[in-house]
Amino acid sequence: MASPSKIPQSVNALPQRAQSLSNALGQKLWNAVGTLVQPPGPQQWDATNTLASRARVIAVSAQKGGVGKTTTAVHLAAGLAERHGLHVLLIDLDAQGHVASSLRAHLRTGTDTYVSQALLAHDPDLASAVVATTLPRLHITLADKQLSSTEAQLATRMGRDLILARALRTVRARFDVIVMDCPPNLGLLTLNALFAADHLLVPCDLSVLALEGVDDLMRTLQTLQWTLGKCPQVLGLLHTRVDRRNHKQNAAMRRAIGQSYQGLSLQTEIGINTALPGAQLQGKVVFESQPESSGARDYAALCDEVRGRLD
Ligand SMILES: Nc1ncnc2c1ncn2[C@@H]1O[C@H](COP(=O)(O)OP(=O)(O)OP(=O)(O)O)[C@@H](O)[C@H]1O
Ligand SMILES: [Mg+2]
Repeated sequence: MASPSKIPQSVNALPQRAQSLSNALGQKLWNAVGTLVQPPGPQQWDATNTLASRARVIAVSAQKGGVGKTTTAVHLAAGLAERHGLHVLLIDLDAQGHVASSLRAHLRTGTDTYVSQALLAHDPDLASAVVATTLPRLHITLADKQLSSTEAQLATRMGRDLILARALRTVRARFDVIVMDCPPNLGLLTLNALFAADHLLVPCDLSVLALEGVDDLMRTLQTLQWTLGKCPQVLGLLHTRVDRRNHKQNAAMRRAIGQSYQGLSLQTEIGINTALPGAQLQGKVVFESQPESSGARDYAALCDEVRGRLD
């Protein structure tokens, strides 16, 4: 795969295009966002010893609940593994444990270790928590209810923002892509994920509240860059749960998103489709449960687009 410093032309061009915008967010935030989508400069230091790593790490994060983060993380990971032949690790960072329930029909036993235990270890290493699935080339790590208290325990540790990055160092060598499903808040686990990630994918339904959540997330990236000297490149905003019958409202929201984050939305949109909650009910990915559905088509298109952007 291409070097992490290569980013798509359209994203590179963002800071220039942003200059012309006079939108609600204002020039200040845009300037900040512009710097976030630039290729990172040479790393001064590496707290995680991951310079020799292979995997590209993608955080799937949004500050609004229920926008399709888990559905997106699961299908992106499964699609990149199945359709693109990549070795993928899907990490569940949400104490709700929805990754495991979404994939329960594809799970194999193999470990009793949860993410919380791996993170709390003296030398944190997620390798002990990796579980195989019956889907080709897809492995996952399981979250448990303890993850919330883990967050509180980690908060007292030195280098608390860097723990996940350190815990990824050995698994990075084993996988091509690591996808992280983040919780719907800006807690310590999300900050760890953002610091550990090379790329950020932001699911955003076509609502004003979701757009406000995107603003918060962009500000957090800016803070990460200032405080820790590193933040992920924005791979794109993914419009999710789009009701394709609502032409007028969708057009208005696309315009609003475009005004604030021109060029950042992915081409692929995920429409509302009952096959997706249906697949979750069966504990399967939609590619297996209803491969002909629009949900399967949309997520296949997302995988193709993300693969293109990564390359
Ligand atoms: N495109 C879609 N069409 C229909 N239903 C969807 C779609 N995407 C997700 N859903 C359903 O919406 C619900 C929430 O989705 P999901 O769990 O992926 O959101 P989330 O952002 O991870 O939520 P949380 O913030 O609680 O972690 C689930 O029941 C899921 O099956
Ligand atoms: Mg979720």
